Amino acid sequence: MAEDDFKVTPWEVTGKVDYERLIQQFGTQKITPDLLREISRFSGEKMHVMLRRNIFFSHRDLDLIIKDYKNGNGFFLYTGRAPSLGMHIGHLVPFLFTKWLQDIFDVNVYIEITDDEKFMRNQDYTLEQTSEWAHQNILDIIAVGFNPEKTFIFKDTEYIKNMYPLVTSIAKKLNFSQIKATFGMDASSNIGILFYPAIQIFPTMFEKKRCLIPAAIDQDPYWRLQRDLAESLGFYKAAEIHSKFLPPLTGSDGKMSSSIPESAVYLSDSPKTVEKKIMKYAFSGGQATTELQRSLGADLKVDVPYQWLFYIFEDDDSAIQRIANEYSTGKMLTGEIKKILAQKVNQLLEEHRKKRERSEELYSKFLYDGKLAKQMWEKIHSG
Ligand code: TYM
Repeated sequence: MAEDDFKVTPWEVTGKVDYERLIQQFGTQKITPDLLREISRFSGEKMHVMLRRNIFFSHRDLDLIIKDYKNGNGFFLYTGRAPSLGMHIGHLVPFLFTKWLQDIFDVNVYIEITDDEKFMRNQDYTLEQTSEWAHQNILDIIAVGFNPEKTFIFKDTEYIKNMYPLVTSIAKKLNFSQIKATFGMDASSNIGILFYPAIQIFPTMFEKKRCLIPAAIDQDPYWRLQRDLAESLGFYKAAEIHSKFLPPLTGSDGKMSSSIPESAVYLSDSPKTVEKKIMKYAFSGGQATTELQRSLGADLKVDVPYQWLFYIFEDDDSAIQRIANEYSTGKMLTGEIKKILAQKVNQLLEEHRKKRERSEELYSKFLYDGKLAKQMWEKIHSG
């Protein structure tokens, strides 16, 4: 593979992703300083670390979302998760960011749990498995702290009856060639997975308002299809805000993989496991010996502990600047930056575990009887 070769699809991220080129390939927009200034007028607090550091780096129609918010039309948020045995820290990224947006704008959030997608995509999984994983993943998502009255979490296999009429209208507007061209499917793909995009597009039409989708950029192909057909069904084109991928521990190419356990930190990992994974597997841009590191310093561009701190774990701008200076000039050693990261990750997981203890208690609010959830079981969409 040539150095600049990379691939980003909803199921696969390989190579060193060139995000500037991806913006051109996908036809999205950069998040500009002007847009950031607009957002900071509403956030009234420090800008989210993932916006300040350009981790959420690209968008479609974010300017229109802000316009709609300003002129009183409002908007809603939508994101989702294909359940698996365990969620890793990368999966948490869009949820943390979505919660921040909900806190600022006080809007409805819809979270789709695609147990159907997971089941249909893997011949080895049973529906019992994906449904158990859905339950466990939902407990993790609830722990993020969404507003229970303004958030609706739904499992596709359970909510499908309410979705189906509009899903069929969406499906009717998508043909095999489009699905094939967008997702690289072929005649051997099972027909469930060919139909599935209609189900992931559907929640963008829960309200007759503009929908903003926070997610990593791998999900963008779905939204391109959505934007081609939404207006013909009387809905808005969905707006998106895209993030980069938190790199795997084992190296800064691609994204973390649930099937390579040492490449990721799971929300269920014990403090000891976290420390061991980071100390042993985190790919280092530091030099091979202490002497070399002292004289040459580390290459921050390939150093995963530094990237994880930059991406999410070190919120303080002056602290990250200090780490960058000291580590790149050899004042700091690889073992030291890894220790800082392990401590930060464990801190976040400790807080997460505490909040998750309450998730079971809140479960039915988010899925069935909170204000928004109740409303969603009563009607498909307004208008
Ligand atoms: P899934 O379960 O693969 O991923 C869940 C969310 O996590 C993001 N993500 C990451 N973000 C940062 N760094 C990473 N390393 C990383 N890995 C994954 C994904 O972009 C996603 O936002 N088909 C979807 C489920 C879905 C959905 C949606 C996602 C249904 N509706 C609406 C986003 C928005 C899926 O398989 O996600």
